[in-house]
Amino acid sequence: MTRPLSGSVPLPPDKSIAHRALLLAAIANGRSRIVASAAGEDNEATAAALRAMGVRIEDDAGAPEIEGDPASPKGAKGARREAAIVVHGVGLGGLRRPRGPIDCGNSGTTMRLLAGVLAAQEFQATLVGDASLSQRPMERVARPLRLRGARIEGRIDPKRPGECTAPLVIGPLEKPRLLGAIEYELPVASAQVKSAILLSGLYADGPTYVREPVLSRDHTERMLSALGVPIQTVGPMVAIDPSEWSGELPAFEVVVPGDLSAAAFVLAAAHLVAESRVDVRGVGLNPTRTGMLEVLRDMGGAFEVEARGDTLGEPIGLIRSSSADLTAAKIGGEIVARAIDEVPILCGLAARARGVTTIVDAAELRVKETDRIRAMAEVLRAFGIACEERADGLAIEGQPEGRLRAATIDSRGDHRVAMTAAVLGLVADGPVRVKDAACIRTSFPRFVGTMRALGAKVEVEETS
Ligand code: S3P
Repeated sequence: MTRPLSGSVPLPPDKSIAHRALLLAAIANGRSRIVASAAGEDNEATAAALRAMGVRIEDDAGAPEIEGDPASPKGAKGARREAAIVVHGVGLGGLRRPRGPIDCGNSGTTMRLLAGVLAAQEFQATLVGDASLSQRPMERVARPLRLRGARIEGRIDPKRPGECTAPLVIGPLEKPRLLGAIEYELPVASAQVKSAILLSGLYADGPTYVREPVLSRDHTERMLSALGVPIQTVGPMVAIDPSEWSGELPAFEVVVPGDLSAAAFVLAAAHLVAESRVDVRGVGLNPTRTGMLEVLRDMGGAFEVEARGDTLGEPIGLIRSSSADLTAAKIGGEIVARAIDEVPILCGLAARARGVTTIVDAAELRVKETDRIRAMAEVLRAFGIACEERADGLAIEGQPEGRLRAATIDSRGDHRVAMTAAVLGLVADGPVRVKDAACIRTSFPRFVGTMRALGAKVEVEETS
């Protein structure tokens, strides 16, 4: 039986922002400093890729100390040094040909954002990924880059006509060629694809216009703008006109905000476990990411948000939350793009809400780290929750009373599925075992420590 959760916890650095900070620091001029403690394996994949292309990235010893971080291995009393890294930028044209294929691991953001930069290099590079990433659709990023003159080929996907997957072979773009102008309309909102096009736009001899059906996370736009790139945004449209630009990115310093997508699991746990009171500190509050908070508010969630300034164009704050009786929600339309990574945990909340929650317009979930619609239907059923899987979402009949049926859950190697199952385990009628949970390290390496610091009983079974 889980006691009420209580405490105030920090979060891992926002994975999306950290990827962009690393990448832009690498192609900036000079020494950038990125404060990002306990980043996950996805961000490490980006750093390793940049190192493979000759970028020096090292730990910075002079980082400030954080007092009493309960999630740190030292425990609640010790102080811990906030980890900062220094990236020695090589400038826009300074990347070097990697010796072998670049391994993006499980990280779609690493692969798709790098594709945008590699499209403009004078060398050829090959991007590979793990079994999950090697299944994910890549034609969406290859196509617009080809349209502006890049060479980029993937493996033809025999099961999906017109689709390609990793390995992606990119370049070379022979000197003195530059990429061309582009005006591109994304068929599906995607910050990864949008960002790849925008990054390639830094290497183009004409303007870049991108339009999305609805606005996806806009971290790339905010960071480029903060670094002096002439970028204009109007709703889901964004444009870069390089004719008004120096052609160089300055080095910068950024404290990466805490990841709201990681906070979502902590906030959900606080809502589900009776009499809990939990705060998450230093969390990113970019409105293109806060869809989950809006849905939770509609469900009767109990939380308050306190703004605390911003860092490199990104708002940051504190969220105080407690347990609450939840009611079902209707989730669909533009909010889905702003809560895309939080749909699994929203399914978890729906499992404890009164009434039937429906999720529509979320077909993109089928091409995430796993098919998250199928995976969540299986997870919920294992916990005894009635739900219907639909082409673009789910209908979930909540069970607010009593405890959920204890179960053994297969995460399918998907970090967000694993963490959702662990959170639901807190309100189950016996121990819940989450198989293949090491994947949590991709985005929230201190998840277990954080949950324990709040009072949850979580054990890790070592497997060989
Ligand atoms: C991300 C964009 C989203 C999101 C992913 C991170 C990013 O993917 O699901 O976890 O950092 O740009 P899509 O661009 O495929 O929607």
